[in-house]
Amino acid sequence: MVKKAKVDLLEEKIAEEKAGLLEAIKQKDCQIETLTRRLESSTELTRMIVHDLKGPLASIMANLDLLMSPEIGRKEREILETAIQGGNDLLNIINTLLEIGKMERGKLELNLSIINLAGIFKATVAKMKSLASQKNLVLEVDCRSKISSVAADASLIERIIFNLVMNAIKYTREGGTIILMTRDGSNKCTVLLAVSDTGIGIPRKFHETIFDLYTQFRLPGERRADKQDCGAGAVDKSAAGNGREKRRIASVGIGLAFCKLAAEQHGGSIGVESELGKGSTFFVSLPTNLIPSGSGLI
Ligand SMILES: Nc1ncnc2c1ncn2[C@@H]1O[C@H](COP(=O)(O)OP(=O)(O)OP(=O)(O)O)[C@@H](O)[C@H]1O
Ligand SMILES: [Mg+2]
Repeated sequence: MVKKAKVDLLEEKIAEEKAGLLEAIKQKDCQIETLTRRLESSTELTRMIVHDLKGPLASIMANLDLLMSPEIGRKEREILETAIQGGNDLLNIINTLLEIGKMERGKLELNLSIINLAGIFKATVAKMKSLASQKNLVLEVDCRSKISSVAADASLIERIIFNLVMNAIKYTREGGTIILMTRDGSNKCTVLLAVSDTGIGIPRKFHETIFDLYTQFRLPGERRADKQDCGAGAVDKSAAGNGREKRRIASVGIGLAFCKLAAEQHGGSIGVESELGKGSTFFVSLPTNLIPSGSGLI
C-alpha cells in the first residue's frame, strides 16, 4: 500500500516535470519564432534601405558628371574624378549587396548562355592589366581543360573571375604572378576555373570563413586591405611619390561571399588552397551539363 502511494507520488512528480518541460519548450519555440520574424523584418528593412540609396546616389553621380566640363582646372578635375570613382565604388557595393540578398532568397534567375572560358579570362586580363601593372604583377592565362565552353550566366561568371583577380591583385606584393586557369574537374560533369597568385596567403583557420559576408583578416604587420594601393577607390595622395597617382581599392568583405553564392546558383562550388607567405589558389567548380535558356530543351 505504502509502496503504491510512493509510485503514484513519483509518477505525479514526473508528470509535473514533463508538463513544465513542455511549457518551457513551447516558450522557447515562441521566442525563436519572434526572433526569426524580427530578423526577417530587419533584413528586409536593410534591403530596402540599401535599395533606396540608389536613387540619391544616381542623382549625385549625374550632378558630378554635369560638373565635369572641359573648362574646369586640373585640381577641380582631380577632385571630381575622385568623387566619381568613389560613387561608382559605392554603386558596385550596393548592387552586389542587393544581388547577394536575391541569391540568398533564391530569387535570382540564371540567364544561361554558352560562354567561352578562355574568352572571359582574356577579357578580364585586358580590363585589369593596367591595375596589375601598377604593382608590376604578371597576369597569365593557362587553359588546359578539355571543355572550353559551358552553359552559365555570363554576367555572374565574369564577376566571379573579376572578384578573384581583384583579390589576387590586392593581396599580392609587387612583382608577383597571377594565373587564370581552367582544369578538368574530378569527373566529366565539372570544369574548374582557378585564379592562382603568389601573394600573402591565407592562414588555414580562415579557409572556410573568408567566404562569409564581411569576413576579412589582417596579418600582423600587413596594411589593411582597403589601404592597399592598386587601382580603384579613393586617390591616395601619399602614395603619389613617383608622379603617378596610385589609388586605393575599396574593401568591404563581400567579394568572396558573392563568388560563393554565384557558384552555388549554378550548382557549383568554390574553395581555396593557400599557404601563408607563398600564395593562394581559388577554385570554382562548375557543372558542364547545364542547358542554355531559350534552347527549347528546358
Ligand atoms: N588572393 C587572396 N590572398 C590573400 N588573402 C585573400 C585573397 N582573397 C581574399 N583574401 C582574404 O579574404 C578576405 C575576404 O575577401 P573578399 O573578397 O570577400 O573581401 P575584400 O576583398 O576584403 O573586400 P571586397 O571584395 O568586398 O572589396 C579578404 O579581406 C582577405 O583577407
Ligand atoms: Mg574582394
